[in-house]
Amino acid sequence: MGMETKTRFRVDLDKCIKCGRCINTCSGMVLEYGEDGCPRMKEFERFGWRGCWRCQHCLAVCPQGAISIFGKEPEDSLPLPPEEMGEYMEELLASRRSCRRYLDQNVDPEIIDRIIAAMEAAPTGGNSSSVQYTVIDDKDRVKAIRDKAYAVMEAKAKRHEYTHSFSDFYYKKMKESEKTVRRDDMLFCGAPHLFIAHDKYTGKWAEDYKVNCIIATAYFELIANAFGLGTVIMSYPAEVLNELAPEAREMLHIPKDHYTGLIVGFGYPEIPYARGVQKERPGKIHRYTQR
Ligand SMILES: Cc1cc2nc3c(=O)[nH]c(=O)nc-3n(C[C@H](O)[C@H](O)[C@H](O)COP(=O)(O)O)c2cc1C
Repeated sequence: MGMETKTRFRVDLDKCIKCGRCINTCSGMVLEYGEDGCPRMKEFERFGWRGCWRCQHCLAVCPQGAISIFGKEPEDSLPLPPEEMGEYMEELLASRRSCRRYLDQNVDPEIIDRIIAAMEAAPTGGNSSSVQYTVIDDKDRVKAIRDKAYAVMEAKAKRHEYTHSFSDFYYKKMKESEKTVRRDDMLFCGAPHLFIAHDKYTGKWAEDYKVNCIIATAYFELIANAFGLGTVIMSYPAEVLNELAPEAREMLHIPKDHYTGLIVGFGYPEIPYARGVQKERPGKIHRYTQR
């Protein structure tokens, strides 16, 4: 079976203006000009990395909306963002913050579904899309995981046993935070939901599996904040689940051979903020100016 059949690549010849944008943007280089000057798909032996990357750039770039692929029609694509998007993004980035106090309430499942659907657009190495997401969208289920992690963590702390980054000092400091900022929950900040990006540990493609998880985490944080949710990226509970309490990790049903990125807690924020922050770190940006 040829690529054209596998990808369901179609060109509306009445609409195509033979501009070649699709050919010039195709990362897999699977498109070529036909005798009629319109694009067509080359024949490949195999569908995968060596052929079409499944990026859909051909569909997205066509000014005429003449191309469909994988059964996707151009008219079903979201429009490009408005011109003011840069300003909105600036505001979003400045107002995004780590939320460490949440309402004890499940988030509207429709919002969670929209966030996860939007994340399909997050980039992955080679467009492998191999990264997977585990979403715990029920606060009672999170509580069960939290209880299990705590039982193990507290028992070990009594014996001065911690994860690799912890010590008596940090443990005490975190415990203190349970009185205010991490109300009663130094580990998960009382977040009613968890999001964890994970990818099969392959060691291939320059550790793309790891980077895929990190990028997915960052995308999730931003989109969730754009939808008015609070989020907190948490490395310590990830350590506890990986190093101290594998029984709690098992409750997440993440395959053992998967690298787990950071855990993101999310939910409706308890405390609304009035404005963005004004972070700046002089000396952080380096520009090469010598000629
Ligand atoms: C790699 C990484 C690990 C983090 N781990 C934790 C964590 O274990 N617990 C926590 O409360 N916040 C954690 N955070 C959130 C940071 O503390 C937070 O981003 C930082 O203090 C800046 O605050 P802001 O997010 O409100 O701008 C982590 C953030 C990153 C990027």
